[in-house]
Amino acid sequence: MLLRARPFGVPAALCLLLPQVVVGFEPVSVYLAVGAASALTGLLLNKDLYCRFTECCLEERPLNATALRLDLEEKLFGQHLATEVILKALTGFKNNKNPKKPLTLSLHGWAGTGKNYISQIVAENLHPKGLKSNFVHLFVPTLHFPHEHQIKQYQDQLQKWIRGNVSACASSVFIFDEMDKLYPGVIDAIKPFLDYYELVDGVSYRKAIFIFLSNAGGDLITKATLDAWRAGKKREDIQLKDLEAVLSLGVFNNKHSGLWRSGLIDRNLIDYFIPFLPLEYRHVKMCVRAEMRSRGTPIDEAMVTQVADEMTFFPKDEKIYSDKGCKTVQARLDFY
Ligand SMILES: *[C@@H]1O[C@H](CO)[C@@H](O)[C@H](O)[C@H]1NC(C)=O
Ligand SMILES: *[C@@H]1O[C@H](CO)[C@@H](O)[C@H](O)[C@H]1NC(C)=O
Repeated sequence: MLLRARPFGVPAALCLLLPQVVVGFEPVSVYLAVGAASALTGLLLNKDLYCRFTECCLEERPLNATALRLDLEEKLFGQHLATEVILKALTGFKNNKNPKKPLTLSLHGWAGTGKNYISQIVAENLHPKGLKSNFVHLFVPTLHFPHEHQIKQYQDQLQKWIRGNVSACASSVFIFDEMDKLYPGVIDAIKPFLDYYELVDGVSYRKAIFIFLSNAGGDLITKATLDAWRAGKKREDIQLKDLEAVLSLGVFNNKHSGLWRSGLIDRNLIDYFIPFLPLEYRHVKMCVRAEMRSRGTPIDEAMVTQVADEMTFFPKDEKIYSDKGCKTVQARLDFY
């Protein structure tokens, strides 16, 4: 009865503990113990109460699409494609009661264009504690997988981690930063988890989300954006289809993309290639204002201009795009 009453999200270990304590005691204390245990279970049954004290993995927590949209609109600048695709991909995936495979997103663009930022926003909208959540895992190759001669170990470890974490929480989120610094082949270790299997060794990965971040393809995106600009086209008129195919092929053929000749691309296991466009002067200004707002300081337009003016822009002649995107905005504001 205790077992059946296990509330959603309460670790099985906790519930199992109770009957085990009871075993071996004489009848009277057994009744007492069962009574106490029931009272405790009753308390635990109150999921809201329980989950206020401990982080719960709520697989069925609906995604609040309005909140996600607001977050993206308020905090991410100049990325109409990424905003649109992320919103569509996540709402579609979370509204689907029976996804056939985990959701896999590959984010591409130069540093400072918002890839890390958007993955943080996505994580927070899926698990309120965001990157600090027990159900959100960030892998950084230079930190977690630094040595080329240990590729085999990394593959085993990665499989073990992902299996362990998805077993504990089906809606786990895995973020792989700096994919371009990952040794070729490491990522292929997770291919079975990303595929259209109902179960892999008894575990279903279909509710998990994998996000890859990479600078690879940044050159292709910049070229396409610049070409559009030179042709007098509006930035917002650049469409995903103009970039997606170029990107997946470019990444597949790039030895330093982390996805070089990867089975993930070969087998079409990546659901979306999402381009992050280089940022213009006006976007840098938006970043500065947003940063001021988040610090609770009044917006000082003179300072906004000053910070934006200090950034360097390319190409040499036209000076349209910020070299570092919005990356150094925070540090520069600290300086003033
Ligand atoms: C969704 O988010 C919006 C904006 O933050 C909020 O007003 C609304 O109450 C939320 N809806 C639910 C069901 O939580
Ligand atoms: C979950 O992943 C983390 C790495 O992010 C790892 O340290 C941990 O051991 C994994 N948990 C399980 C149960 O495998």
